[in-house]
Amino acid sequence: MLTTDKMDIIPEKWYNIIPDLPEPLSPPRDNNRDSSSIDLLNRIIPKEVLRQEFTVRRFEPIPQEVIEGYEQIGRPTPLIRARNMERALDYGGKIFLKFEGATVTGSHKINTALPQAYYAKNEGIGSVVTETGAGQWGTATALASSLYGMKSKIFMVRTSYDQKPLRKQIMSLYGADVSASPSSETEFGRRILSSDPRHLGTLGIAISEAVEYALKNDARYMLGSVMNSVVTHQSVIGLETRKQLEIAGEYPDAMIGCVGGGSNFSGFTFPFIPDGDDIEYIASTAEEVPKFTHGTYKYDFIDTAGILPSLRMYSLGADFVPPGIYAGGLRYHGAAPTLSMLIKLGKIRAEDVSQAEVIDALRFFANHQGIVAAPESGHAIASAMRYANLHRTEKKTIVVNISGHGLMDMKIFDGEK
Ligand SMILES: Cc1ncc(COP(=O)(O)O)c(C=O)c1O
Repeated sequence: MLTTDKMDIIPEKWYNIIPDLPEPLSPPRDNNRDSSSIDLLNRIIPKEVLRQEFTVRRFEPIPQEVIEGYEQIGRPTPLIRARNMERALDYGGKIFLKFEGATVTGSHKINTALPQAYYAKNEGIGSVVTETGAGQWGTATALASSLYGMKSKIFMVRTSYDQKPLRKQIMSLYGADVSASPSSETEFGRRILSSDPRHLGTLGIAISEAVEYALKNDARYMLGSVMNSVVTHQSVIGLETRKQLEIAGEYPDAMIGCVGGGSNFSGFTFPFIPDGDDIEYIASTAEEVPKFTHGTYKYDFIDTAGILPSLRMYSLGADFVPPGIYAGGLRYHGAAPTLSMLIKLGKIRAEDVSQAEVIDALRFFANHQGIVAAPESGHAIASAMRYANLHRTEKKTIVVNISGHGLMDMKIFDGEK
């Protein structure tokens, strides 16, 4: 049994936006390689997760064990009025922060790792595998699988593996077996390394390695972002935010979050989309990975090897190798099809922020709110600061999702002022 106040805020159902989209969502497309890539999903993804991936039901009940799990990992996460930031920016309106960095693994990623691990365990699975960029998703997977008594294997993009040794350590502490990707442990990794032994790695390559590993070792593949089921699980962020704002007697004029594959932003904003057009939504991405401003809206591969099906989404191409920015979680070439559609239709505005602006924003935020935010979340903070500066006198209520803390990403400040 949860304590009453938490019970009131943690939702009992996740929200799935599919039936509320302005247009039907284009289905995943088979790549017609050696075997059907759609059939392949049946082999590597827990059945219940796959059912949720294709459901058109608006609400999915959250299993009681998962609700209790959410409480154990720190849900509901706080909604904080950022009064210091408002004062420092001389902003006339209100700024609220939904702080996903308050979960025990330090980001929103645990919101979907928990239910996926729970469903895998219920199906009698002994081990799971996934990729990770900055390490936040790998950390969440490592903890969730350990909580349900399963082994975990993580392919971590090499550039982050080298930049963030503490992340590797915490994953190992939670019992995961972590390899830098591209690795020599898979055929695909070996192929990449033979043409470039110093390859920085990408999420697309790491996904291909994880899927190959799942197929060869009868492990289940954990989905970190992009897919509908993940976005549905992440709706816990937006549903809690709505209740917390209601308690405070507030409603957003603008909602701002960062986008890698799109899961924290979509989970945060989608529960508000059916309300109508009163809220401005701003999806903040890395200027170095400008998928919405310079990418194409098309069918493209999820992973670089094209093992998984293609999705209709904004993409820079599955073989795009982004610079090694600190916001490793934003280095993905594509974005969730649901979010891509809403951006294409102009319901959500995307904007790019450079690493230099992000570092300034993170520094400002740490100095005024005390939170060392993740480099990924720094994009949302920078966009919120831009917005506050533009709307200084209009008293708009800005709600920002801070997707994670950056206590293991301090290297971003090396050599700074
Ligand atoms: C803290 C944090 N924020 C944001 C992201 C971006 O992912 P998504 O767009 O799926 O939320 C990541 C991904 O690793 C992350 O670790």
